[in-house]
Amino acid sequence: MGSGYVGTTTALVLAEFGWNVTGLDTDDRKVESLRQGTLPFYEDGLEVLLQKHLQSGNIRFTVDKENALKSHDVIFICVGTPARQDGSADLRNIKQVAKDIGRHMNRYQLIVNKSTVPVGTQERISEWIRAAQPSPYPFDVVSNPEFLREGRALTDALHPDRMIIGADNDHAAKLLQALYYSFDCPILITTPRTAELIKYASNAFLATKISFINEIAELCDKLDVNVNEVARGIGLDPRIGLPFLQAGIGYGGSCFPKDISALLRTAYEQDVGLTLVEQVASVNRSKHLHLLDKVRDRLGSFENKKVAVLGLAFKPDTDDIREAPAIRIIRRLLDERACVSVHDPAAKLPPDLTHSAAAAVQWETPQQALLDADAAILCTEWKNYRLIDWDRIKLGMNQPNIFDGRNMLDARKMTSMGFYYQGIGYR
Ligand code: UDX
Repeated sequence: MGSGYVGTTTALVLAEFGWNVTGLDTDDRKVESLRQGTLPFYEDGLEVLLQKHLQSGNIRFTVDKENALKSHDVIFICVGTPARQDGSADLRNIKQVAKDIGRHMNRYQLIVNKSTVPVGTQERISEWIRAAQPSPYPFDVVSNPEFLREGRALTDALHPDRMIIGADNDHAAKLLQALYYSFDCPILITTPRTAELIKYASNAFLATKISFINEIAELCDKLDVNVNEVARGIGLDPRIGLPFLQAGIGYGGSCFPKDISALLRTAYEQDVGLTLVEQVASVNRSKHLHLLDKVRDRLGSFENKKVAVLGLAFKPDTDDIREAPAIRIIRRLLDERACVSVHDPAAKLPPDLTHSAAAAVQWETPQQALLDADAAILCTEWKNYRLIDWDRIKLGMNQPNIFDGRNMLDARKMTSMGFYYQGIGYR
């Protein structure tokens, strides 16, 4: 249930392992697109698998709840849990699908929840299903959080590094384990509440690593130390680890910001102060401002300056701009009356930034966006930005200023080409 990012990937991986899968969604357009073999979002490698299993007959997509729900033994919940105004997770979609499941249940079914939900939701899903059942069929609800990353969904889903099964009885845990027999990774069986918390704690810890290195980067700027070398120097200690120590303008996306807010909300409701996690979020909120300070210092002011922003997506290999630092940067630049030109190979500017009085302009190529620019700000580490002929670009820029929000270019090389180059804790 839910043919978004997690739902479609899960469905296709199960189809790949030979199961007979139906993707159910309420959005006709999305379902029609999937039926035609076109993904409604950008994700490398997934469309090939979609076309393969539409052909093999292992997968189909429908909006017909009743038939889909009545004809399957296992139901995966993969609907969105967006953030509410107060930071808590909005469970309206979850409640609706739980009611649908209950209403159409006609035998024992295993319900597997993959959506990220606050601790205690598995119990609420069971209650919602029970309340909607016309007759009391037995069922189990298992919490099975998903850890896949956008841009790497297929690899992550085919080769997870662990599987968490939060079940309140052996039978349900064994059924899901049997369904997952093709996966070659450690499986941890826990209570549903533990599984739900593991997902939030996992994202909060990864975000902590990012905010930690981003704070150290600020100190590196003052001390003239290279944060990339510091990250490598500490990350080679296996207790610390190299991943997630890439300094930059902060994390974005559909998970970290939302899940951290929801975790903080849960802690607040339990009267527990997660001060470290609060600081992780707070450091992240200000990272883009530090980079803008550097650009402003260099240009004097933004008024009537042409600033090129390279990269909109919250990270490379996706077209997702949710909570992307680039969008915050563009808004601030427009507020301060800069002329903003933009490039991204996959993501598009949101309508409010192209249709307002002070609008940003998106170009087809980075070369077009950089023409006559007083400064370039790199916001997403797309590989092709490394491969640009920067020597030629320099000739077309009004001022050769590069602010690298992802430390993706070689500082020494850029400086030797005649650019004024500043990264994050790196120059
Ligand atoms: C994340 C988790 O990794 C995944 O396990 C979970 O299921 C969903 O949330 P995702 O949002 O796809 O996945 O992106 P991820 O690759 O984790 O990056 C998140 C953000 O952190 C991006 O904005 C990225 O640019 C930033 N990041 C990541 C850094 O700034 N530095 C790093 O070292 C790593």
